[in-house]
Parts: sequence; C-alpha cells; structure tokens
Amino acid sequence: MFLNQFPEEYAKLRADPGLIPKMVPEIIRYQSPVVHMRRTALCDAELNGKRIHKGEKVAMWYIAGNRDPEEIEDPDRFIIDRARPRQHLSFGFGIHRCVGNRLAEMQLTILWEEILKRFPPIEVVEKPKRAYSNLIHGITEMILNSKSSRPTARRNAAATSSSDSVRMVPSPTIEKRHQSHPLIATTVLQVPSGPIKM
Ligand code: HEM
Repeated sequence: MFLNQFPEEYAKLRADPGLIPKMVPEIIRYQSPVVHMRRTALCDAELNGKRIHKGEKVAMWYIAGNRDPEEIEDPDRFIIDRARPRQHLSFGFGIHRCVGNRLAEMQLTILWEEILKRFPPIEVVEKPKRAYSNLIHGITEMILNSKSSRPTARRNAAATSSSDSVRMVPSPTIEKRHQSHPLIATTVLQVPSGPIKM
C-alpha cells in the first residue's frame, strides 16, 4: 500500500532489492501495527511538564511517537532507505519491548524477497478495509492487481484461477482483531499459484 502511495520508493526497491532489510523496519514504523499500550503509574511522576499521579492510567501512543518530527526526520514520508530505520516505537520500549521483533523483521524480509521475485509491480486497486480497533492498526481486506496494465481485479478472484489478481483475506484469528497480536495471527495471501501462508 505504501509503495503504491510512494511510487518513487517502489521504483527504488525494484532497482535494488538489497534495500529490503532497510524497508522492512520503515514499513513497521510507518504502519505502527500496535497503536498503543497502557500502563498504570506506580508512583507520582512528571513527564514533559505533565503531572502523572500514582494509580493513573497512561496510554502510550506508539503511532504518534512514530510520527514525531523531533525524533524522526520527515516522519510523514515513507522512505525505504532511511539512515536509521530501526529507530521507531512500533515494538514498544523498555523491559516489555517486543521479544519477537527480530522474528517479525525476518518474516517480512523473506516475504518481500519472495514477492519481488514472483510478481511484477503490485497495485492496490481499491481502498482497503481496515480493522475496527484502537489497538491493532490492521487491514482486514485488500484487493491487489499484479499487472498495472489491468486496472481492475475481480473481487472474488479464486486462489486457483488463472487471474493475476491477489486477494489478502483475514483468517478467523484476525477476525478476533481486538485480541490478536499482529504477526502471531495467521494471514492467508491468495495468489494464482496457490495460497502463501504468513
Ligand atoms: C510487526 C510485528 C510486531 C509488532 C508491531 C509487535 C509489537 C509489540 C508491542 C508494541 C509490544 C508491547 C511492548 C510493550 O508493552 O512495551 C509487544 C510485545 C510482545 N511481543 Fe510483539 N510485535 C510484533 C511481532 C511479534 C512476534 C512475531 C512475536 C513472537 C513470535 C511477538 C511476541 C511478543 C511478546 C511475547 C511480547 C510481550 C513482551 C513482554 O511483555 O515482555 N511479537 N509486541
């Protein structure tokens, strides 16, 4: 989706697939799959001039931190070759920082390596359906076309058909969107050659 919004970045990637390891953390920053976590203050504290009283609940909006212009240069742009792409809050911070962060990056790196080998440029053909959640910033359905010369994709393209359309569908686990962790849930990407399970 972001590569469609920023076609110059897609061109960079296709010219140099070696950029995948830098692009992956940029996707994770730009999307911010976990929107926020909440903590309960154990003692009175002051943070950036704001008083936080013991027992108060504090929401940490990772999605906002990831677009903080004081920390990230030009944060609203998706740039696949940023200087320090892993400097983001999508995995949280401190002792509870996501233990699966390296695995998540590895999965996405392999996925993108395979996508680039198998598909010509992929086009998002209509607005994706988003998960109704203030915890998981996710997409439940996205219709794609792997040939830019064909403007439309059939909504219900079957995985085994000869069509070049690709349909990302939610698994039953993702349907329980409020509870599921972004990558532990299974997503099925249906492609003409058969389903790829992520
Ligand atoms: C892009 C994918 C992922 C994102 C954005 C993500 C994000 C997060 C976030 C924001 C937290 C909470 C940090 C906090 O409370 O401060 C977390 C915790 C955690 N994540 Fe992930 N995660 C991802 C993938 C994974 C994977 C693949 C695994 C395991 C295979 C995993 C396992 C965990 C565990 C066990 C915790 C709890 C850590 C703790 O409380 O000490 N995550 N993750």
